[in-house]
Amino acid sequence: MHAPEGWDPSLQVRPIDADDAEGLSSLFARCADYFELVQGAPAGDEEVDDFLTDCPEDRTEDDLYCFGVFAGDELVAAASNFKDFPDPDTWWIGMFLVEPDRRGTGLGRAFFEALYDWFLDQRALEIQLGVLEPNEGGREFWVAMGFEHLRPGRPVVEGVPRPVPTEVLSLRL
Ligand SMILES: CC(C)(COP(=O)(O)OP(=O)(O)OC[C@H]1O[C@@H](n2cnc3c(N)ncnc32)[C@H](O)[C@@H]1OP(=O)(O)O)[C@@H](O)C(=O)NCCC(=O)NCCS
Repeated sequence: MHAPEGWDPSLQVRPIDADDAEGLSSLFARCADYFELVQGAPAGDEEVDDFLTDCPEDRTEDDLYCFGVFAGDELVAAASNFKDFPDPDTWWIGMFLVEPDRRGTGLGRAFFEALYDWFLDQRALEIQLGVLEPNEGGREFWVAMGFEHLRPGRPVVEGVPRPVPTEVLSLRL
């Protein structure tokens, strides 16, 4: 993956894997606001493991591509992406997180632009993702990235007191 134009040269973007579990755990702890919002509890080892391995039905880890942004040794943003999901030539962004201290500085946009260029290199035709209804700020971010409403998604039912509606957003490349 290449850093886009205007990228902060003090940051590095690269694939992440199980060797980065500690960094992910620390990032997730700093992003407790997000996990409280979407699952009503902070993240633990299970969420780190899910991020690195959890795949949609009928998919394997071969279709899962995780990337991180590092400031020195510290992981400051992370994204998980599925190839050809739910359809061929569509990439699905599973999770996309920026640490709270760096939000509002353009890092989310810069990281997404790096991913976007990489998806183009993979000959993707579309990017999709699901956003939870209570995550209004997350939705605004994706709309700022050019995403549009595609359809209602499957409500989240696991680990929450009542079903949380979701929405699938799409961006055609
Ligand atoms: C959503 C998130 C990734 C945004 O990252 P960020 O680094 O703060 O975003 P940026 O500073 O690059 O902002 C990019 C654009 O999105 C908009 N935006 C970002 N967060 C927003 C918010 N909470 N409300 C409204 N607009 C927002 C900005 O106004 C900006 O627009 P502009 O470039 O046209 O001026 C970050 O807040 C985050 O990690 N949140 C928790 C996890 C999450 O919700 N992920 C996405 C849902 S799946």
